[in-house]
Amino acid sequence: MTTVHSWRGDCLDVLPTLSTRPVDLVYIDPPYNVGVYGHYADRRGDWQQFITDRLRACRPLLSPTAVVVISIGDSELHRLRVAADTVFGPQGYLGTVHWAGNGSPRARFVAGGVDHLVLYAADHVALESSGRSFRVPKPGVGAVLAGAAQCWAQHPGDPVAASKAMRSWWASLPSEHPAQSAPGLRRYMKISPDGRLYRTTPLNKPLPRPGHVYDITHPVTDQPCQMPTNGWRHTEATLRELLDAGGVHFGPDHGEVPQARAYLDELGTTPLPSVINHRREGTRVLTELIGAHDFPYPKDPQVLTWLFSALAGPDAVVLDFFAGTGTTAHAVADLDVEDGGDRTVLLITNDESYDRYLARRLGALSAAGRLDWADHAVREAASA
Ligand SMILES: C[S@@+](CC[C@H](N)C(=O)[O-])C[C@H]1O[C@@H](n2cnc3c(N)ncnc32)[C@H](O)[C@@H]1O
Repeated sequence: MTTVHSWRGDCLDVLPTLSTRPVDLVYIDPPYNVGVYGHYADRRGDWQQFITDRLRACRPLLSPTAVVVISIGDSELHRLRVAADTVFGPQGYLGTVHWAGNGSPRARFVAGGVDHLVLYAADHVALESSGRSFRVPKPGVGAVLAGAAQCWAQHPGDPVAASKAMRSWWASLPSEHPAQSAPGLRRYMKISPDGRLYRTTPLNKPLPRPGHVYDITHPVTDQPCQMPTNGWRHTEATLRELLDAGGVHFGPDHGEVPQARAYLDELGTTPLPSVINHRREGTRVLTELIGAHDFPYPKDPQVLTWLFSALAGPDAVVLDFFAGTGTTAHAVADLDVEDGGDRTVLLITNDESYDRYLARRLGALSAAGRLDWADHAVREAASA
């Protein structure tokens, strides 16, 4: 279950007062400096100094392997990079995920609509020597694995019936389903005796070689299986290891050449991509939860959940000091439900958004039992 602590005020004042376990992930979405949005002054006189001071203020709270992610628009991307280079060092720059949403059809020159998620290491030496890498599920993989789990739940312990159900699942899928996003996924049709989804790949050797011709016994008929024309791809010792690890698919009898199993749950991740396309759903989610539709561009929790799954382990401490409506807490709560994590979220936002948005979102999520919320602004006001 997610634990959330929230504070009200300018983060420059609040950050030095926090005593917390070392923070593993900072995610911030600071004012983009593009004008005055409804309830808050987005434009700052000296934006670069404003953001440099606040990044510097969070630094003492970070664990050595912490990652800092900053959302920013086109107009301040270059100044943000200079500010973050100043605080974390240019070597701390890990890369940028460009998030393409909807550009403006009325734009005069360039449609825009791209957000940049800029990643820095708090200490690049510590991060590099930690051996960590950032991986996310390949698009659509989660949806296909969920489909396979459903088929296995309908036919527990029966891989033949579950595989048949999986073929029907694919056949009945609507074209807009997320599983349709990568055509290669359709090759994952079979379910193993331990309930894992896989596809088969040939085990043949392209050219005949000594040491690659030997017998493999069929597990049901106990007869030597048909061998590929040029012999097996692996030596006998390697193929036996693959067999022991459940990596070989046999046909119904020894007349069919066995094949290798490629399990989707092993092959289904990719490094964080440099470009993502995702319609922004932040306002819809917030409106459904608390009825507020006047906050300018709250972030989409689904995209943050996806991002955090690569960057924040199951007991991570996550800090957002431009928290706005509290999307970060919402996204972490969704991730904890998804992977059974127990993350802690620390949120700071100023008067412009605390009562009107953040407290209402956290109140609604906590009333729904989706997170535990400690409201430090209320506690301080009560004891004042
Ligand atoms: C771009 S919005 C963040 C939106 C947020 N990511 C969400 O999805 O709701 C920036 C927020 O930072 C708050 N803010 C601006 N200056 C601040 C400061 N110095 N300290 C703390 N919060 C600040 C504003 O009230 C605004 O809600």
